Amino acid sequence: MTTETRQLTSEDLRALHALGHEAFGIPRLAEDAEPDPLRPGHRVVGVVEDGRVLAAASGIDHRSYWHRTEVPSLGIGGVSVAVEHRGSGLLAGLLTDVHDTARSAGVALATLYPSAPGIYRGLGYEVVGHVLTLAVPTAVLAQVRVPDGVRLRRAELADVPAVRDLYRRWAAGYNGPLTRTGPAFPATDAELLAAPSGTTLVERDGELIGSCSFDRGHEVSPRAAIGVRDLVALEPDGYLALLASLGSSASVVGRVEIHTSGDDVVRLLTRSSDWEVVDRAPYMLAVLDVAGACTQRRWPQLAVRLDLTVADRDGEQGWSLELDGSGSATCEPAPVRPGAPVLTRRGLAARYAGSWSCHALRQAGLLHGDAGSDPLLDALFTGDFHVRDHF
Ligand SMILES: CC(C)(COP(=O)(O)OP(=O)(O)OC[C@H]1O[C@@H](n2cnc3c(N)ncnc32)[C@H](O)[C@@H]1OP(=O)(O)O)[C@@H](O)C(=O)NCCC(=O)NCCS
Repeated sequence: MTTETRQLTSEDLRALHALGHEAFGIPRLAEDAEPDPLRPGHRVVGVVEDGRVLAAASGIDHRSYWHRTEVPSLGIGGVSVAVEHRGSGLLAGLLTDVHDTARSAGVALATLYPSAPGIYRGLGYEVVGHVLTLAVPTAVLAQVRVPDGVRLRRAELADVPAVRDLYRRWAAGYNGPLTRTGPAFPATDAELLAAPSGTTLVERDGELIGSCSFDRGHEVSPRAAIGVRDLVALEPDGYLALLASLGSSASVVGRVEIHTSGDDVVRLLTRSSDWEVVDRAPYMLAVLDVAGACTQRRWPQLAVRLDLTVADRDGEQGWSLELDGSGSATCEPAPVRPGAPVLTRRGLAARYAGSWSCHALRQAGLLHGDAGSDPLLDALFTGDFHVRDHF
């Protein structure tokens, strides 16, 4: 009997499908049916024993925005262990392998959507945000008026580069959104425009300031919902015009369901608090490479040095983080310094994303030691976290 951990190939697809059936309930494959090919941009690593895939996880090469900089990040999905092998340690070994390969290729962050956060915490992941579906009565949006001076129109193929650029300008100012580049995302402009019922654009003086792709659904009823895949704008009039356009369906559709994350700014722009979270998917992050993660992102333009210690199952490692005043930083391994704050791997992930304050992390036992530099730690890892793409 031979057991090996390796990247899966087209030869393994049938065995991988069988594991996907028992883990996620995907329909079993008929004897004469061909398994689906690996999805573009997905690399699947598995533990294989005599042709049977006992455990698998896929890695997707993403890039994500951190304070206006793109940082390579690994999206993990399809994590599964065969029923009889659960609890045997295969999972930790497999993901450590996936992490090591990514780290040696210069990838500093890994992210995933967990079926349960407890599965990944031992590997340094923490929940740093949520993808949400917010339902709002269409009647609430019907009270919003299209502001003067802006124009709504339907997107055409020629608009797609500008729509991509609008998303880039929206996303770059946050922590975490994917750049939507690379093989895992729709390659052509036609593919991007094809998915929803339509994409509405808002322009002022010919310049794009907002975009909303929507799926009208099929019903006419108070229970029916318009699904909003992307609602992105650069200024209030862009948002208001798009919300008004959605509200114009109030006579035929009862609800608008907006796919969003965190605290969407639309909530600052509507007068009602009549929003209901109808779906919530937690999103976890792990820092695979402390130095890489800290040197690749941009920072506030401060000249300051911070000593910190990162603790995990293997022990403690000191780090010296030095911001040079221009938005760049160096981060070097250093001796553990007495008095430096001690972050667990999970605490580091949470603070890196700007999602949890030092005060909260201390209460959760993810940060300890001297609290003197907590205000600095809070101030440096700043920004709002968002992510909109499921994988
Ligand atoms: C989830 C799954 C991959 C875990 O594999 P496993 O071999 O059972 O995992 P292990 O026993 O090695 O446990 C790993 C860790 O996850 C935790 N864990 C396992 N199942 C869990 C659950 N359902 N909820 C919360 N934590 C869980 C364990 O306590 C352990 O924590 P520790 O590292 O802090 O000790 C496996 O049960 C599976 O394939 N499930 C069905 C598909 C699925 O849910 N995949 C995850 C998609 S995100």
